[in-house]
Amino acid sequence: MSLHFQRHRRLRTTAAMRNLVRETYLHTNDFIYPLFVVEGDNIKHEISSMPGVFHYSLDRLEEEVAEVVELGIQSVIVFGVPNHKDECGSEAYAENGIVQQAIRKIKQWAPQLVTMADTCLCQYTEHGHCGVVRDGYVDNDPSLELLVKTAVSQAAAGADVIAPSNMMDGFVAAIRQGLDEAGFINTPIMSYAVKYASQFYGPFRDAAHSAPQFGDRKTYQMDPANRREALREAASDVAEGADMLMVKPAMAYMDIIREVKDSFDLPVAAYNVSGEYSMIKAAALRGWVDEKAITLELLTGLKRAGADMILTYSAKDAARWLKEID
Ligand code: PBG
Ligand code: ZN
Repeated sequence: MSLHFQRHRRLRTTAAMRNLVRETYLHTNDFIYPLFVVEGDNIKHEISSMPGVFHYSLDRLEEEVAEVVELGIQSVIVFGVPNHKDECGSEAYAENGIVQQAIRKIKQWAPQLVTMADTCLCQYTEHGHCGVVRDGYVDNDPSLELLVKTAVSQAAAGADVIAPSNMMDGFVAAIRQGLDEAGFINTPIMSYAVKYASQFYGPFRDAAHSAPQFGDRKTYQMDPANRREALREAASDVAEGADMLMVKPAMAYMDIIREVKDSFDLPVAAYNVSGEYSMIKAAALRGWVDEKAITLELLTGLKRAGADMILTYSAKDAARWLKEID
């Protein structure tokens, strides 16, 4: 028999052999866990469209933060759900806004936990858009001023990383200048550089009460059909001084994660968003998929695609599963 072919299966014969040649590892250090903070007392409410994810009032947040730390997760990102919304989202940059209070507490309880602040206005505005609305259009430059105020107030509260998700043009330049002028030269910016106008955000908008009250976000978030535009978005954020670049959502955009990783010399974050999480949860609750295996496969795939870190609602579960494996 003179057949010539490669026996790829030789390196798959045993678990130990497969371990030797494995190219990608998932680690609990890779995870950034989102926290939803609400006003009020003694609140720990499960978000109905996101089983296993809760709204916490400040007095109940400590138990969640303790669990996160106990599991070895090193980073969280804080989303605020305020009681009061107005035209210009003033609770986003209030000194005692819900996020500012939460960050101060978290940094007291767990000084070493890298605490990121999502910088946007949509949870805080009556119209639910990520910037200032004028004549039905989200007006770019006036929005920048409010976003800078928000970022500076978050840094002043102790945020370790500013993560602006608003998709206005120039937000990185504006926020960098604002942080520097306020003395926060060492506070990095993780830019939601490539953020698509996605249906996968549905459950989050329930959770954060941040759905737009008219229209949609397509005049500022990206068209899911575009790849080269993603590189333009990322390039401008790099030029404006971003320290880390995020691609969001993750699952349907793994080609974009890879392109951003290969095109820029900055750490890349992938946001495994609410819809991605909830789809797996829903199927798992019906016994249709193996939640542990499928979640670890997805998260490993995101790392293989080029993500250095992953924002994921599965962080606590995955941290537990990774402990079992070790
Ligand atoms: C708000 C924001 C959104 C998410 C994070 N920040 C939703 C949106 O843009 O409508 C989505 C997160 C998720 O779906 O998990 N700027
Ligand atoms: Zn927003």
